[in-house]
Amino acid sequence: MASDDVQIESVFRDCLADFPWRRAHDVELIRLHGLLASNHCLVAHEAHAGIVGFLTLERRKAYVPHLFVHRDWRFCGVAAGLLQVARDMARAPLLLDVDSQNERAIAAYKAMGWSEKVGLLPPREGQRRLSGP
Ligand SMILES: CC(C)(COP(=O)(O)OP(=O)(O)OC[C@H]1O[C@@H](n2cnc3c(N)ncnc32)[C@H](O)[C@@H]1OP(=O)(O)O)[C@@H](O)C(=O)NCCC(=O)NCCS
Repeated sequence: MASDDVQIESVFRDCLADFPWRRAHDVELIRLHGLLASNHCLVAHEAHAGIVGFLTLERRKAYVPHLFVHRDWRFCGVAAGLLQVARDMARAPLLLDVDSQNERAIAAYKAMGWSEKVGLLPPREGQRRLSGP
């Protein structure tokens, strides 16, 4: 839905401030909209706030390209809830790549029982591939 896309982009833009090491934000936004058009997107919605977090899912690969929670709604279980629904949809342990410098996210994934995935296809340089429970 177009109004959802506006709110998703707003959450995403807010979170990009956490990634000073990443490529230009307009490039990130183009990638986001491409994935929104071609993949599943799960959103967390709060009655008075609208969309407070979202996840994109490449279901057949059980791969999560995006997981973003607005800073005002962190530590409320939003990411854990989105990942649980995605896990159920994919029917397989989820995979994602996280920037090696993103220590807060890595700590969150560890708290949720995720671990390093060593496989045939290595992640891009500067990223770590994690696998969910
Ligand atoms: C990483 C992120 C998605 C976590 O979302 P969240 O909704 O706050 O996570 P939850 O509330 O579901 O927390 C899940 C677990 O992780 C822990 N956790 C969350 N953030 C944490 C942090 N910064 N440091 C340590 N642990 C953390 C929680 O305490 C919880 O563990 P518990 O069940 O043992 O209490 C969120 O901080 C975010 O959007 N960050 C910016 C974008 C980003 O880095 N995305 C990941 C890209 S790969």
